[in-house]
Amino acid sequence: MTRIGMGLIGPGFVGAHHIDAVRRLGFVDVVAIAASSDASARRKAEALGVPKAYGDYEALIADPDVHVVHNTTPNYLHVPVIMTALAHRKHVISDKPLAMTAPEARRLVDAAAKAGVVHAVTFNYRGNPLVQQAREMIALGEIGPVHFVHGQYLQDWLLEQTDFSWRLEPEKGGESSAIADIGSHWCDLVQHVIGQHIVEVLAELTTVVDTRLKPATSTEAFARGGAEGRERVTIRSEDLATVLVRFDGGAKGSVSVGQVCAGHKNDLWFEANGRRASLRWLQEHQNELWIGRRDGPNAILPKDPSLLTATARGYAHLPGGHQEAWADAFCNVLRDVYSFIVAGGRPSDPHPPAFATFADGYRAAAIVDAILESHRQGGVWTTVENEGDGGNGSTQRHRATEKTIR
Ligand SMILES: NC(=O)c1ccc[n+]([C@@H]2O[C@H](COP(=O)([O-])OP(=O)(O)OC[C@H]3O[C@@H](n4cnc5c(N)ncnc54)[C@H](O)[C@@H]3O)[C@@H](O)[C@H]2O)c1
Repeated sequence: MTRIGMGLIGPGFVGAHHIDAVRRLGFVDVVAIAASSDASARRKAEALGVPKAYGDYEALIADPDVHVVHNTTPNYLHVPVIMTALAHRKHVISDKPLAMTAPEARRLVDAAAKAGVVHAVTFNYRGNPLVQQAREMIALGEIGPVHFVHGQYLQDWLLEQTDFSWRLEPEKGGESSAIADIGSHWCDLVQHVIGQHIVEVLAELTTVVDTRLKPATSTEAFARGGAEGRERVTIRSEDLATVLVRFDGGAKGSVSVGQVCAGHKNDLWFEANGRRASLRWLQEHQNELWIGRRDGPNAILPKDPSLLTATARGYAHLPGGHQEAWADAFCNVLRDVYSFIVAGGRPSDPHPPAFATFADGYRAAAIVDAILESHRQGGVWTTVENEGDGGNGSTQRHRATEKTIR
């Protein structure tokens, strides 16, 4: 089989998981990493067992052994890193959010189409077997047309004044914090599962911790620390949000997003209510899918390959009773993307389900922008910009849903 060279820019928290995941594929060589300086690149390359280290991302992109560029830098570097990779006609796998605004994300969609390369965004929850099970059950009409989708993504790692991240600094993270960081996951996930796009939003955003104590030196994501030697900074981006959503297939919904909710770690869940049944999936109990019925007993479907639909079964790699988790789903997403690359997939070819493209990244950025605008206007219904997905978005419409709900 063809071997593919991978280079990663931004070896922080999630970068290590990108490396771990591609190593499991068996046909990808992790060739190089680029960090913010030569010294940190060398240190990280040694720790991660990567042969080449660059203190400058342009040098990594120019390396002929690197065929696929992974971008796991802080949000403000996504556009320059991706544009440079596209100029070198390298395939790009970027972490979310694709860009800090919808127009910037749109620019990346257009540049990727022009470069004719494979482009992906790691909306990794798509890679869970039971997420694919829910998607397929809805596509096959098993729960009837979906009329309501609700859920949340709550965390607590920003509850204290001493909790700090570049995500809270608008010039590094973008104007939105919680919504762009984790709300975007929920929005992509439910659109993917129910096969409908969010087209209007009504939002109320809050900054609960409006003054924080910023550490003198930058810390890795999610690090905790004491209050000594810190600078007081005013925070304007939201750490809590309530959003109503309307979908283009007629479904209505709501989501709560927060990073200041004690006891909640990665408490992401959604429930889809259809005319015949309901489905609920909780990220923290990801090996179970709840099926709710009116005319029969409710059920829990376990992640057991022998009980799953044909597509979902391909995302489960252990027999029933063995738990699969976040890193396995992440690997499934990268398997979908790299299999597409190896097969010589072109942008117009059908994408495997867990593979989100830049068009999906643009859609998520447009939802974030609409949520910010809705809040600025005092909480009014706001249309999500849609400049087309370039024909290669991978959130496929489910015919069963489209036919019946109007
Ligand atoms: N898909 C997911 O579930 C998920 C999870 C976490 C983070 N993310 C996304 O991944 C990205 C990184 O987040 P993180 O939590 O890993 O952050 P992080 O701060 O832990 O890592 C970012 C890394 O980029 C490096 N960096 C900074 N400037 C650089 C430069 N000029 N060149 C090369 N490297 C540079 C930093 O030194 C750091 O090592 C963000 O966009 C975030 O939204 C996604």
